[in-house]
Amino acid sequence: MHNITLIPGDGIGPEVSFAVKEIIDSTGVSINWDIQEAGEKAFNTVGNPLPESVIESIRKNKIALKGPVTTPIGKGFRSINVALRKEFNLYANLRPVKKLPGIRTPFDHVDLVIVRENTEDLYSGIEKIIDNDHVEAIKMISREASRKIGLFAFDYARKNGRKKVTAVHKANILKYSDGLFLESVREIKGEFPDIEYEEIIIDNLCMQLVQRPEYFDVLVMPNLYGDIVSDLCAGLVGGLGLVPGANLGDHYSVFEAVHGSALDIAGKNLANPLALLQSAVLMLEHINETAAARSIKDAINWILSRKERLTPDLGGIGTTTSMTQDLVAYIRKNSVGTLN
Ligand code: NAI
Repeated sequence: MHNITLIPGDGIGPEVSFAVKEIIDSTGVSINWDIQEAGEKAFNTVGNPLPESVIESIRKNKIALKGPVTTPIGKGFRSINVALRKEFNLYANLRPVKKLPGIRTPFDHVDLVIVRENTEDLYSGIEKIIDNDHVEAIKMISREASRKIGLFAFDYARKNGRKKVTAVHKANILKYSDGLFLESVREIKGEFPDIEYEEIIIDNLCMQLVQRPEYFDVLVMPNLYGDIVSDLCAGLVGGLGLVPGANLGDHYSVFEAVHGSALDIAGKNLANPLALLQSAVLMLEHINETAAARSIKDAINWILSRKERLTPDLGGIGTTTSMTQDLVAYIRKNSVGTLN
């Protein structure tokens, strides 16, 4: 029996989180879910977007599956995602982006992994009002965190049969901060002679990603670039409804999709559960529940070949509920072709 914290979140969060819970439970894997509220809903009900009970639950269970949470723009409480990543030192944000069968995109081959540093950079949240017309924000880069994420990227590449790590930066302009990031990753590369290493300036990366995404393998980068490049890469493979993620530290892990709370479609039963479901697959693999992960992957591959059953973001006429029912039915029957 695994104890796992489930944070449904805001907007489409509860829709996709409970869908994914139902799908995971249908595999028969034994999970005791500890459901915890965080985000805007928690702020409105208990006055704290990250109640202590959420921290305690993750500290106890060590693993969480998290729906997206809303962060107010330009005012209000600070991101609880950033707070959670700092609290549990979830220094690596892993986002595999893969072209999936059945999804039509301009690219035949996209299979890359974004490794985003998750604890510093402009996300340090240190901003200062200088006067009415000037503000400053601190971009914090440390050798320790940069080395750690560099090591994570190379180690991930080696363990997962990847061939190349590309460090992404803007050290031509940010000579000290991105310069230190780059220097730290370079220090690591010597330990991995079997992995090819390249460096690329962030703006050039963006252009090349939309021209020849097949060229890239593992991409390692500071926090802000990782955030932006993740959404860009989601666009290469069919959108945010598909791309999973994992926030990993040495002792704790929080699995969540790349997408946010999607307020434009919240409550309409239109949210695609596959991004969070694929994050759950990463989670099941992480806790060595490989059979459950396999059967969910099989079900995902099956539903991707039935376009009409998918949610509208993928061109279908399905709903969150109908996709969940289809996936659960497929997993229960566990045989290809019983649903058509
Ligand atoms: P978003 O990712 O929520 O939505 C961007 C677009 O993608 C929208 O058109 C939305 O409908 C679509 N989309 C996203 N997920 C989808 C899904 N599963 N199925 C179908 N369509 C989907 O980004 P946005 O609108 O910039 O942010 C909304 C809120 O989410 C903000 O408060 C932001 O701070 C928060 N956010 C939270 C994250 C987290 O908790 N990990 C990550 C990113 C944003």
